[in-house]
Amino acid sequence: MMCGKVIFFSCLVGFLAVFLSLDFFIPYREAAAAKLPLKLKSYFDDFVNLCSSHLEFLKYLTFSPKLFSKTEVKRFTGVDGDSVYLALLGRVYDVTRGRKHYGPDGGYHGFAGQDGTRAFVTGDFTPDGLIEDVSDLQLEDYLGLQGWQQFYEKDYKYVGKLVGHFYDKDGNPTEAMNQYLIKLAEAKSEKKKDQDDARRFPPCNSEWRQDEGTRFWCSTLSGGVERDWVGVPRQYFQPGRTYPRCACVRTTGPPSGQDDLALHDNRGDLDNPKLKLYDGCEPTAESCHVP
Ligand code: HEM
Repeated sequence: MMCGKVIFFSCLVGFLAVFLSLDFFIPYREAAAAKLPLKLKSYFDDFVNLCSSHLEFLKYLTFSPKLFSKTEVKRFTGVDGDSVYLALLGRVYDVTRGRKHYGPDGGYHGFAGQDGTRAFVTGDFTPDGLIEDVSDLQLEDYLGLQGWQQFYEKDYKYVGKLVGHFYDKDGNPTEAMNQYLIKLAEAKSEKKKDQDDARRFPPCNSEWRQDEGTRFWCSTLSGGVERDWVGVPRQYFQPGRTYPRCACVRTTGPPSGQDDLALHDNRGDLDNPKLKLYDGCEPTAESCHVP
């Protein structure tokens, strides 16, 4: 009998703790904490944090994402004050809080009640543009889509998956989703290559004057790359680009990626075959005029 009471009492305290950790009680908790002596306050904070983590765990156990059909999502366009939902990459978000954007009078109402993923990067808000197909976009567009997804995950409530293009009837990723993920990985790897390339061959400073033509020059900060060397301007024939661009090239130390100076001539990247001296420019000049 006694044992039963203890269990009941523990459950009651546990239930109250989780209940009080709901966001609704934040102002009351803060007001209570402010009145406590400093020493007790830290115990109180620990207790609240413990309760919150229980709540997250409970949410994790009890929240299984709903699977929406297209017809179901179509109901949530915000007409007559109803909720507004939109889907991006097959994930459905409750965007009612952003009614001014997505409601009937909002500039982005086209996104409401459907998955218009493609338009997030093309800006084509016509019915032909508000579609799910993202199979043939430019690589950087996949990074754009990922950015939008991060935005909705953070700013709005995720409510479930849309069955069809990106998820199948069991909520598993479809081939279209796999293809998107492959393109996204490719885009990230390209971006990383571009960043490495910009660090190795930072773009030059440049100015143009009618009487003198273009002047390229290097400094410890050019092309947005800060470094401890200045370098000399060279034409850089970047793989995959039609025209060369001006790059500042390191003139001392081993070539990039080859740390063993003993095997090299201490000329930095100057001997890289993708580089060419500008006509009329001194090989060691930090500034070059190009007519
Ligand atoms: C691909 C093109 C574009 C897309 C997909 C897009 C999408 C969006 C979306 C979804 C929102 C609402 C964000 C939220 O829920 O808070 C938004 C807000 C906004 N957009 Fe765009 N947009 C595009 C282009 C533009 C352009 C070109 C401009 C300006 C000339 C612009 C100006 C704004 C402004 C000012 C807001 C915020 C309004 C506010 O917070 O009150 N957008 N955009």
